[in-house]
Amino acid sequence: MNPEEYVTLPAFRETGYVVLDPYDQAQDPREWEQLTFVDWKSSGDTRFAPLASAYGDMECNGFWNHTPAKTDKDGVWVDANVAVAPRLKARAEEPGANIGRCRVIELQPTAYGETLYNLHRDDNNRLNPEGTGWIVRAFFNLTDDPDTMMVLREDRDDPATETRIALPAGAQVIIDTQRLWHAVWHPSDRARYCLITSYESGPELDAYIKAKNGVSRIESAPIDPAVQAEGEAVAASKREARAAALAARGQDPTFGDGSLRASATMETYSEA
Ligand SMILES: [Fe+2]
Repeated sequence: MNPEEYVTLPAFRETGYVVLDPYDQAQDPREWEQLTFVDWKSSGDTRFAPLASAYGDMECNGFWNHTPAKTDKDGVWVDANVAVAPRLKARAEEPGANIGRCRVIELQPTAYGETLYNLHRDDNNRLNPEGTGWIVRAFFNLTDDPDTMMVLREDRDDPATETRIALPAGAQVIIDTQRLWHAVWHPSDRARYCLITSYESGPELDAYIKAKNGVSRIESAPIDPAVQAEGEAVAASKREARAAALAARGQDPTFGDGSLRASATMETYSEA
């Protein structure tokens, strides 16, 4: 799958992410506390509250896992959740671009090493017709998690390619999650909530990014070098254990390019 066959935006060309002006989250009601959350199939504690799903049902499956299968566009609003979260729906609609999946994630605390192990790339553009807009994902942080970071890597195994974006309440980031390895590091004692929306790249999203003063490169949030080193070691040992388990079951433990598979499937951690 070649992004050059799609409509893409210049803002993502250099780094694959754009940080927008922060949003004044404190002015809004905590609508996520009223939402209905559903378990995601294999990611343990992580739950999602769908605002838009493939056909409007209260479920979070990939749009391509439905009949008929569809790409991650033209999401259908989930009535019961939209009814209690009109402000979240309005924020998702603000860019005016085509919306695919739209949901609130409930992420339990994670350690840095676990985050590195969870690094993954999304499969947003499966079934997306060439010549149309490349699908990217927006992350609007809802809870105030000043120590929490979106961890991005161009190369999963190269810490030098890492960017860490702090996620206080109102942080707004749009990411080409099919290009960048990503996961959220959430050192906290309570769950984090974030609005995640798939958007189609095009003139509407381009105008929105410009209106919100999007920047394509920021300085990484600081990290303690000891935490970083320990995290690398933890992630490496978890990957080796995972690869051994897959090999014992006769499955290919690599991504096909020689790198060890980070987790059971890309779908295991299909959101950050
Ligand atoms: Fe993801």
